[in-house]
Amino acid sequence: MLADRLIVGASGFLGSAIMRKFGPKGTIGTTYSKVSEGLLKFDALNDDLRPILRELKVGAPVIFLFGMTKIDDCARDINKSRRINVEAAIRHIDSALSAKCKPVFISTDAVFDGRKGDYQETDETGPLHQYARQKLEVEEYLESVGASHLVLRLPKVVSALAEKGTLFRGWIEALERSEEIRCAEDQIFSPIEVGDFAECVGALLENGLTGTFHIGGPENLSRADLYDQLIEKIGNEFPNRRTMVRCNFEEFYEVIEDRPLNCSLNCDRLKLALGDHFRLKSMRDVCVEIASNLRSKNGCFGSM
Ligand SMILES: NC(=O)c1ccc[n+]([C@@H]2O[C@H](COP(=O)([O-])OP(=O)(O)OC[C@H]3O[C@@H](n4cnc5c(N)ncnc54)[C@H](OP(=O)(O)O)[C@@H]3O)[C@@H](O)[C@H]2O)c1
Repeated sequence: MLADRLIVGASGFLGSAIMRKFGPKGTIGTTYSKVSEGLLKFDALNDDLRPILRELKVGAPVIFLFGMTKIDDCARDINKSRRINVEAAIRHIDSALSAKCKPVFISTDAVFDGRKGDYQETDETGPLHQYARQKLEVEEYLESVGASHLVLRLPKVVSALAEKGTLFRGWIEALERSEEIRCAEDQIFSPIEVGDFAECVGALLENGLTGTFHIGGPENLSRADLYDQLIEKIGNEFPNRRTMVRCNFEEFYEVIEDRPLNCSLNCDRLKLALGDHFRLKSMRDVCVEIASNLRSKNGCFGSM
């Protein structure tokens, strides 16, 4: 039987959440370097997606999540990052379109220059770094082709399960080592919980929606404020912690390229499309879950 959807990059942070949302039935997922049961091996730089696309129903969504995803890595090696983030992405999007499938491309809130905030989908873009310029190039390609597609612009996605490499996990690891934690208070974003993100993807696809959507969480806040929310819930677990240092983003000398400061997303289009009953978790709710997972060693906390 032909499959209902394909997730290219299903072994990653967001891909795993979408896999959990849809379940294995009717879903094909790919992995690159991780050994993941039930996922197909696919190398976006060297493999052809067409044989996998033949296993899909006409009109099935193909969710593209692969790429070089760390902002400064893209700047460190522009040619390498372009090869995967732009050239391979466009090549496989073209294959998906030829197979009469619907590409779903995951982009970023950093396509904006961060001077205004509360960005709507129609606002002028102005990326400050290479990673976001590459995302925008693929967005513009999809727009120029004109076929049915989705572009989902995401803020930082967070998780209550502390997956490796995620924001809360990084903070909790630093708390365990009693390290100094510095947080920018002038960089504003609209973080969303990963399960909510997957629910939004599911609902947008179910409703047959197309075009560009901002998928942000319900509040705009700085990293420093988000850290304070986390400490409010888990601070007791780390009695020897050092006081967090609030700073401006420009004091992070280690970053290679500028970052937009206020990337808060206006998600009215998403709300209108999904209806008022669609509620997203507040960051306080996520921090409550983290506290409970931490105490009972759920999710990745058991292995920390
Ligand atoms: N996470 C966020 O907060 C966030 C925010 C905005 C936008 N995004 C975008 O959302 C997408 C997914 O993000 P993520 O956080 O889930 O990233 P991730 O955890 O790094 O996952 C990336 C996925 O791509 C696969 N991959 C890497 N190189 C590949 C290659 N050469 N060929 C085929 N597959 C390859 C990885 O496979 P293996 O793991 O098996 O190597 C993994 O499944 C990315 O495009 C990212 O830029 C993420």
